[in-house]
Amino acid sequence: MNFDVALGERGYEVRTGAGARRELTEVIARRAPRARTAAIVTSAGLVDRSWFDLDTGLEQHVVVVPDGETAKTLAAVEYLCERFISLGLSRDDVVVGVGGGAVTDLAGFAAAVYLRGVGVIQVPTSLVGQVDAAIGGKTGVNLTVGKNLVGAFHQPLGVLCDTEVLDTLPEREWGSGRGEVAKCWLLERRDVEEIAAATREDLVALCVGLKSAIVSDDEREQGRRALLNYGHTLGHAVELLALSRDPDELRHGEAVAIGLAFAARLARELGRTGDDSVHVHDAVLDAFGLPRSLPNAMTSERLIEVMQRDKKAHHDLTFVLDGPAGFEVVPGVAVDVVARTIDRFRLEA
Ligand code: GLY
Repeated sequence: MNFDVALGERGYEVRTGAGARRELTEVIARRAPRARTAAIVTSAGLVDRSWFDLDTGLEQHVVVVPDGETAKTLAAVEYLCERFISLGLSRDDVVVGVGGGAVTDLAGFAAAVYLRGVGVIQVPTSLVGQVDAAIGGKTGVNLTVGKNLVGAFHQPLGVLCDTEVLDTLPEREWGSGRGEVAKCWLLERRDVEEIAAATREDLVALCVGLKSAIVSDDEREQGRRALLNYGHTLGHAVELLALSRDPDELRHGEAVAIGLAFAARLARELGRTGDDSVHVHDAVLDAFGLPRSLPNAMTSERLIEVMQRDKKAHHDLTFVLDGPAGFEVVPGVAVDVVARTIDRFRLEA
């Protein structure tokens, strides 16, 4: 399926479905007609996969970077830009990012700053990448003090979400992607009964459709795009605390799932919704096989401290919450209400 990210001159298509990677040559020919060279940025584990048969239709070079969040560094950007220079990449040429969210964030940012910006085509190979990270032009790297603190909005020339490449995804990576899918399912108010029959193509298309529409409306997160952070305020804090204990304890999407279950309870606590909404959230998370209880030893004090640091908030916190007017960004949620809701949430587990 094709989805338009309608941003005028910066607009592009996101193509989903089995075999979408084979459309790379055509997308490059149409969107970068003067390109002669392509730098395919990817991670070492991917180049041997059977689907790594990418054809850009140009003189192409593979540039390998380490995988994972820790590879998103300014040093990696410098390395990539120096490699692009040595390959003779000009402003007319293209970068192709092939990998999970970390690789496409890094490749996208290097493309944003190299020669003050060259075109990038993203070929996300993880479920999180296909349903979220590779769409919408957010690119960047981490600093030692936090995630995505250096970056740029750099919309790609196209995104190819090939569901065939998901065949070899390890089970934990599916869990991570499913957290973002559950978020879209809830935001779209889809019926929990439909989850069992949904194919992975359906799930990718649902999320891509939602994200393309939202980014078309609000490219720079001045309004509606912030709804995509549903479940992320607490989820991000849970993820950071888990990472500091054991990098394998929870994947991003699993932490988001816990954040979604909590957001339903916080909305109820604030009188915005009732028990029904909590039941729907729990049923959706269960149907996707996601966790929805806080790991032991994550106290409300510690979680609030991390959320305040993350959001640079001292007195109150901002959440995306459901309510009578639909999903909204709700600023100014008092810390004592958040603490009370976390404590009750923990007791439920
Ligand atoms: N991942 C949320 C966004 O792209 O806005």
